[in-house]
Amino acid sequence: MTEPVCAQKEPYAVDVEAGRAYFWCACGLSKKQPFCDGSHSGTGIQPVRYKAEQADTVFFCGCKSTGDKPLCDGTHNTL
Ligand code: FES
Ligand code: FES
Repeated sequence: MTEPVCAQKEPYAVDVEAGRAYFWCACGLSKKQPFCDGSHSGTGIQPVRYKAEQADTVFFCGCKSTGDKPLCDGTHNTL
């Protein structure tokens, strides 16, 4: 597998904590979306680290086709 699979065709809104690092699932296989649970093993795809600078609501890409990983850039509207 070299292409990610779509987990859902919309972003995941997550309230992030200031100073905390998150690992976004890039492969689409995680059961803990939008974050990595290790299911990418063997796919050649790696999670993408996101460091929250401040407490905020962040929209993580669910379709895995964003051009602005790990954030939703609206690409899901074209799928
Ligand atoms: Fe998808 Fe780790 S489970 S990148
Ligand atoms: Fe992937 Fe919006 S959910 S670009």
